[in-house]
Amino acid sequence: MKQNILSGMRPTGRLHLGNLYGALINWIKFQEEDYNRFYFVADLHALTTGFDNSKDIYSNTIEMVIDWLAFGLDENKNTIFVQSLVREHTELFLLLSMITPVGWLERVPSYKDQVQQLGKDKTANFGFLGYPVLMSADIIIYKASYVPVGVDQVAHLEFTRELVRRFNAFVGKKVFIEPQPKLTKSPKILGLDGRKMSKSYGNAIYLSDSEEETSKKINVMFTDPRRKRKTDPGVAEECGVFMLHKIFTDINKQKEIKSACSKATIGCVECKKILSKNINAKLREARNRRKELEKRKDYIVDILRDGSKRASTVAKKTLEEAKDGIFGCNFYR
Ligand code: TRP
Ligand code: SF4
Repeated sequence: MKQNILSGMRPTGRLHLGNLYGALINWIKFQEEDYNRFYFVADLHALTTGFDNSKDIYSNTIEMVIDWLAFGLDENKNTIFVQSLVREHTELFLLLSMITPVGWLERVPSYKDQVQQLGKDKTANFGFLGYPVLMSADIIIYKASYVPVGVDQVAHLEFTRELVRRFNAFVGKKVFIEPQPKLTKSPKILGLDGRKMSKSYGNAIYLSDSEEETSKKINVMFTDPRRKRKTDPGVAEECGVFMLHKIFTDINKQKEIKSACSKATIGCVECKKILSKNINAKLREARNRRKELEKRKDYIVDILRDGSKRASTVAKKTLEEAKDGIFGCNFYR
């Protein structure tokens, strides 16, 4: 039997290069491998910290899925769906919450981080504490063997595995399987200001940006501070511009730039010009697809409805098994 892969993203709206090359490229790679693939919009997770902006979630969902498809995620090769359209996630979340020790939740590193970052008020709700339980439900309801995610999600998967062991031990049956992370091996992507590329820092380049906007952004991007004057040599490996060259520029040209930077025989202006040209060339097709998809939002909704129905059939079966296991009867089949 084919193994299952599943991953999800919170609907943050349009995706930037960090999202695309940090996560999505990995999802797309699996299209060529022999798995059942499930990718979903974690809109319920968005509510855990965003209830006050809940009206934005729908349009953010559509914009994000447009980027998925434009960048190359194929709706015919993957089950693409919306978490809140598959009710079984919510029901399993409730069942799992009965066996989840509160102490485990308080010990999840991202919990403490987020409380610190967002403040006590925004994170004082029960649903936010339960974030990893809902995430566990998302994964195990499809009996996913692998979950392509970034390193920041590894602790959540560790939590999921522990919860699976606990559940299976309670019911005395191997209802769920323990998922493994599939880490993305992509180079670090820095934003315009040299910090990590992030929507909230306002330092990102988007697939939805025009070629002109892209070039303008690259032009103001931080470079190696050693290169105050054009005659000062620099270290390309410590420059955010060069990190993007590593994704968008062919390897020979990269070597040439690296050496020229260290000898100050190339200026940052020229280096950036080459980069803008390469980014724009590489993204051109996806950007055109994006523009076409923008005009077909109904089609996006159809894909998500249809995918959610298919996902639901799979999720329903697992949920029935789980309930049979808990209550010791076959009431639910
Ligand atoms: N927590 C993930 C993130 O912030 C999103 C997510 C929710 C997820 N459920 C998931 C990822 C299940 C993988 C599998 O990016
Ligand atoms: Fe960065 Fe290029 Fe300038 Fe070197 S030449 S510091 S790699 S922008």
